[in-house]
Amino acid sequence: MVLNLVKMITMANMLSMFILMEVVAGGFRFGVDGLRMDYYIMSCPFAESIVKNTVNRALQDDPTLAAALVRMHFHDCFIEGCDGSILIDSTKDNTAEKDSPGNLSLRGYEVIDDAKEQLEDQCPGIVSCADIVAMAARDAIFWSEGPVYDIPKGRKDGRRSKIEDTINLPFPTFNTSELISAFGKRGFTAQEMVALSGAHTLGVARCSSFKNRLSNADANLDSEFAKTLSKTCSAGDNAEQPFDATQNTFDNFYFNALIRKSGVLFSDQVLYTTPRTRNIVYGYAMNQAMFFFDFQQAMVKMGKVDVKEGSNGEVRQNCRKIN
Ligand code: HEM
Repeated sequence: MVLNLVKMITMANMLSMFILMEVVAGGFRFGVDGLRMDYYIMSCPFAESIVKNTVNRALQDDPTLAAALVRMHFHDCFIEGCDGSILIDSTKDNTAEKDSPGNLSLRGYEVIDDAKEQLEDQCPGIVSCADIVAMAARDAIFWSEGPVYDIPKGRKDGRRSKIEDTINLPFPTFNTSELISAFGKRGFTAQEMVALSGAHTLGVARCSSFKNRLSNADANLDSEFAKTLSKTCSAGDNAEQPFDATQNTFDNFYFNALIRKSGVLFSDQVLYTTPRTRNIVYGYAMNQAMFFFDFQQAMVKMGKVDVKEGSNGEVRQNCRKIN
């Protein structure tokens, strides 16, 4: 009798575990918004590997493109959602997002074009440009020794790309409250905002993005590092300053630089200066695994910002033009 009761309880537990696992796995497979991990499995089974090989080839030639591809995904998602709107070229009637001052230093469009061309050859009209950008960013992070993660796919491409919309990108002059508010508007917590800022472990900023910090004495800027920044700027507004000592490697050096008051942008350094986010920066600087975990979760979430599905969008034939 007691044995039977134990067996029944054990079976009931196993059943509820199974149901829970199905719910979790189901949510994982299909995502909350209709995006799916296996979206192209039948319609374009080599989509993932075509993008990955294209990205790997491009990064072998020019490792600095990893940063560019990650930034491109961010700038795509924050304006009009992750819908490939950043890729659209201006026309005589429309100045597109990519021609706004905040986007002029974006690069890597030719990597997306290259992947798209091969995908159109293999499975015409199936793989969206928005998905290519999301996959390319993910592959660039892995290539740079960052976390490996899977992303759901099925984003459609948007039909709007207007320079005036880019006013909604965060500025490098933002303080912590402004950063929290800009990311909060898109559903991100302060912790997710700090994790995503960790993308600045890759790449460079040009002098024009930080030179305003050099004119006044700044107690939150290390005096030796201020000299480094000034030296960079002596070569002009377009001179590039790596965000950390390992600009092509995805690691937590960026957060360690912030602790040493050696953040490049004002919006980087404030994350450590203000009590609200200081401990998060400290945590990521001390524990790279924690940063990687939070970063990949936040990137998957970023890739779902205002995605277009069904007839709300299209699959562009050429990523630079609406159909
Ligand atoms: C928190 C708010 C953010 C601000 C204010 C900001 C601002 C900037 C600025 C001003 C630059 C340098 C541009 C230049 O001088 O040419 C830059 C570069 C970069 N940003 Fe951000 N960013 C932010 C968040 C992010 C996020 C969330 C990501 C990605 C998830 C990201 C990825 C990058 C990368 C990888 C670069 C280097 C690009 C390259 O080397 O080509 N940023 N960012």
